[in-house]
Amino acid sequence: MSLMAVIKGRRGPSGFGYASTAEDVTAGLDLTGKTILITGVTSGLGKEAARVLVMRGAHVIGTGRSVEGARQTLMSFGTNTTAIACELSEPASVRAAASEIAALGRPLDAVILNAGIMALPTLQQKYGYELQFFTNHIGHFILMQGLMDALAPTARVVAVSSTAHRGAPKGGIQFDNLSGERSYRAWAAYGQAKIANLLFAKELARRFAGTGRTANSLHPGVIITNLGRHLNPVMKFGFGVASVVMCKDVHQGAATECYLAVNPGAAGINGQYFDDCNIAAPRADGTDAETARRLWDVSEEIGAKFA
Ligand SMILES: NC(=O)c1ccc[n+]([C@@H]2O[C@H](COP(=O)([O-])OP(=O)(O)OC[C@H]3O[C@@H](n4cnc5c(N)ncnc54)[C@H](OP(=O)(O)O)[C@@H]3O)[C@@H](O)[C@H]2O)c1
Repeated sequence: MSLMAVIKGRRGPSGFGYASTAEDVTAGLDLTGKTILITGVTSGLGKEAARVLVMRGAHVIGTGRSVEGARQTLMSFGTNTTAIACELSEPASVRAAASEIAALGRPLDAVILNAGIMALPTLQQKYGYELQFFTNHIGHFILMQGLMDALAPTARVVAVSSTAHRGAPKGGIQFDNLSGERSYRAWAAYGQAKIANLLFAKELARRFAGTGRTANSLHPGVIITNLGRHLNPVMKFGFGVASVVMCKDVHQGAATECYLAVNPGAAGINGQYFDDCNIAAPRADGTDAETARRLWDVSEEIGAKFA
């Protein structure tokens, strides 16, 4: 048996593993009465997670850059859904989305912070900040700031990070280069945005400790989705080669976020990083409490500029 076959067949302590799908990790669950928010339901993993969680009976609130985009996707999964516009790189749109979601009056049992962009080949900025950091991290940070009071007592916040967080600059976050202007490399910038997702979950978990609420982060696997849309041909080739060796399909790719959001096996687990539906070790500085706290403070300052 090849090494890949062994890896793909392996299951961890959760009972799930590399090959588990979102349907597998939710099998037998009746999510009727649960409300789950997912960002980025128009494509890829968010779309699959929405499909499966609606199928299991949950009310899914799904965001897209436009309400029409989110609605078009969610409509195909049934009527137990709410579409919300949330352009993560526009703080005003994010704040409006948070207000709209809170006004629904449905306590959120889980929030899956899933939307993201990857490896922009050249530096792009919004309001002076590098765009991946601003979209993937700051957008979600502002969203969560507006949703704290809307969380159910045992709400699970699930931040979709990536193993690409390992490519973040030394120390994790270059606090003196959040504009990207001092230096910019596509994968390092993506890695920084993804380690920011991880550190955000870590600090949120610290703040949640003892409340019944939890926050965790995850790597979903390597899956061919629209995420690769910004890659140049050379990068696409590299990503393609990696994914031939280690590629999940979208059903498997959505498994870990669904596991963390609703599976009873993840209840009460707080502040961990998951891979293949099991606890895994992130890069060492991805667990640094001081960096996580500093990132939170800096994110608050950035968010306040757009209040
Ligand atoms: N696929 C992988 O191999 C992989 C590996 C590790 C981690 N991840 C992470 O998994 C998550 C989902 O990725 P995916 O593979 O499903 O990618 P995808 O197919 O490109 O889906 C990304 C989703 O995010 C939305 N989005 C992007 N920019 C946005 C913005 N500015 N405002 C609001 N929504 C925005 C997209 O909306 P539009 O459709 O309008 O663009 C889409 O709904 C991401 O956080 C990614 O970093 C993926």
